[in-house]
Amino acid sequence: MSSLSSPIPSVSSDSKADVVLIVDDNPTNLSILSTALSSAGLRFRVAVDGESALAQAERTLPDLILLDVQMPGIDGFETCRRLKANPATQAIPVIFTTALADSDSKVKGFALGAVDYIPKPFEQQEVLARVQVHLQLRHLTESLEQQVRERTAALQQAQVQLVQQEKLSTLGELIAGIAHEINNPINFIASNIAPLQESIASLMELVQLYQQEYPQPSPRLAQAIEELDLEFVLADTTKILNSITLGTERIKNLTVSLRTFSRSDQSIQMLADVHQGLESTLLILQHRLKGKGERPAINVIKHYGNLPEIYCYPGQLNQVFMNILANAIDALEESMVQHHNAVDPQIQITTALEADWVVIRIADNGIGIPETVQPRLFEPLFTTKPIGKGTGLGLSIAWQIVVEKHQGQLEVTSQPDEGAEFIVKLPLAPPDTASGI
Ligand SMILES: Nc1ncnc2c1ncn2[C@@H]1O[C@H](COP(=O)(O)OP(=O)(O)OP(=O)(O)O)[C@@H](O)[C@H]1O
Ligand SMILES: [Mg+2]
Repeated sequence: MSSLSSPIPSVSSDSKADVVLIVDDNPTNLSILSTALSSAGLRFRVAVDGESALAQAERTLPDLILLDVQMPGIDGFETCRRLKANPATQAIPVIFTTALADSDSKVKGFALGAVDYIPKPFEQQEVLARVQVHLQLRHLTESLEQQVRERTAALQQAQVQLVQQEKLSTLGELIAGIAHEINNPINFIASNIAPLQESIASLMELVQLYQQEYPQPSPRLAQAIEELDLEFVLADTTKILNSITLGTERIKNLTVSLRTFSRSDQSIQMLADVHQGLESTLLILQHRLKGKGERPAINVIKHYGNLPEIYCYPGQLNQVFMNILANAIDALEESMVQHHNAVDPQIQITTALEADWVVIRIADNGIGIPETVQPRLFEPLFTTKPIGKGTGLGLSIAWQIVVEKHQGQLEVTSQPDEGAEFIVKLPLAPPDTASGI
């Protein structure tokens, strides 16, 4: 059977010395039990009635309790009931020691949550054997519970990742799809603007030529010219064409940005320009930066350094910028509400090359983050926002992408009421070769 023991964590006597609490009002019993436990290298403490047993158990949790049934004051059954009702002590295994060998008492003991009973008078070997079995069971249970907790946490983490990846790829595909669909008609319009401009210019020249050749139009023509306000139409047509050209350019840039942002090549590492990623993300957040009614616009101040392109997963980095910037906007909106718009909301984006790192700092002057909350920011599902507003995933995803995917660093500093700064540090070397080849 020894082959079975290897996966089982080491338990009982060679782990930290177990402490057994003996509860008995009879000095002879106490002496027999304590001698038996000492002989096996177990530590023990003693209580002579139920009340003091409860107090002791709560003060320093024993690993097991040997509990006499018949005692002055509250008896063993009542003591057991209270131990099991208290969340702090309910997991401690209780073994009854009893001279009541009738099965009613045994049943009652088990019903109250005892794990075993030892009949009196004591047989030393039996006491030890039972105590050790239950100590071992307790250790195994603890280690199993620990494993379940760890696995559950790992599963939760994996689930969060899956949900987010799913969300990202759906969103990415949607954006890429829309950008693509807009691209065709807009190209169509864009490529027709120049010929249209030429045709209109020729028509205008023709009209001017007519005016020169026939300075005295017929009355019908003169009336039509006046009704049309020919001078104005001629001047305005050029303006209209210019603004169509400008609008078309803007839409074309937007589709390029949308495609940059949603790069469907999320699993492929490539050389990319961090500034381009920041710009396309800002463009997508444009509608949230603009002022609305009383609410002032958020001013984005950029201090872009001279950065080389870096090997990275550009689509995922955009997601990091998106999450950090969206949080900054949330924090600024909240601050505007708190200060009745009497603030100058700002986001400062600073980029620099520092040693072998590309460093991107995104700072806002919003509500800031209380110090007590800061260590929890990157935990999955941690949010201070109302239900329906925040899922608490943004920063945990950013952490995964920066730290795990890019071997980078993600830091935060904040003064409550003064704002927060998130610092993304990305290694210049590609993630796969970060350790050096
Ligand atoms: N710039 C900031 N200023 C103030 N608090 C912030 C800032 N960025 C993050 N936080 C705090 O960190 C918490 C976690 O952010 P995270 O982005 O992970 O989740 P969320 O924004 O609440 O939800 P979502 O999943 O929608 O992003 C926020 O709820 C907020 O309390
Ligand atoms: Mg967020």
